[in-house]
Amino acid sequence: MGMSGKLMVGNWKMNGSLAANTSLLSELLSGMGGVNCLAAVCVPATHLAQAQSLLAGSALALGAQDVSAHESGAYTGEVSAAMLRDFAVRYVIVGHSERRQFHGETDTVVAHKAQRALAAGITPIVCVGESLAEHEAGQTEAVVKRQLAAVIHTNGHCISEIVVAYEPVWAIGTGLTATPEQAQAVHAVLRAQLQAATAHSQRVPILYGGSMNAGNVAGLLAQPDVDGGLIGGASLKAPDFLSMLKAASR
Ligand code: 13P
Repeated sequence: MGMSGKLMVGNWKMNGSLAANTSLLSELLSGMGGVNCLAAVCVPATHLAQAQSLLAGSALALGAQDVSAHESGAYTGEVSAAMLRDFAVRYVIVGHSERRQFHGETDTVVAHKAQRALAAGITPIVCVGESLAEHEAGQTEAVVKRQLAAVIHTNGHCISEIVVAYEPVWAIGTGLTATPEQAQAVHAVLRAQLQAATAHSQRVPILYGGSMNAGNVAGLLAQPDVDGGLIGGASLKAPDFLSMLKAASR
């Protein structure tokens, strides 16, 4: 069993515009009554300034979707942890499967990104998850353990300050969700791995991600080691995301 309050994080991915963000965030903020879970939105880097100002003083925390593994310097196009910190970013997603798949991020790069975030006082949301082929080959446990092991190896006792997100790649944007039992089985493996690495593993939330929606959220969150969600598509629709935040607030 993990932390007591649930953590629900929206990942907007490469969606939004100044106009669309204004309406989405104002709709979310006006519907937050009765929400008592922890909640955040991870916005594109170009929208951090806008989101910081719209979310200031609210119960919705600000997150980013990626951070450089480097501190500063000649890394064209990259955004450093210190730059994120300037916008009061609380969370940053690292190692999302879309970055591993389309941008060549290795376990080692992901571990260093988590380290940069931690050093800047930003909580990294470390994503792990197996592909469809790995799932079908029965390699789920081995893959997620290898991915988390790299982060533990690089960050040592600091991993008590991370968030882990289990996102089976075959469930992302596909409408196929892991069953609550499938998610719990993997979360229990990750929990045991965290327990072996730190005395404070109980404070590490383990989120589920992959086609989480208003209909399946309650069943997933009812599992003992599912401490919240990382939500893509459904986080772009205010009524859907709000109903998920409410389900997590019970
Ligand atoms: P979907 O909720 O759109 O499947 O995306 C999940 C995800 O990748 C969140 O990071």
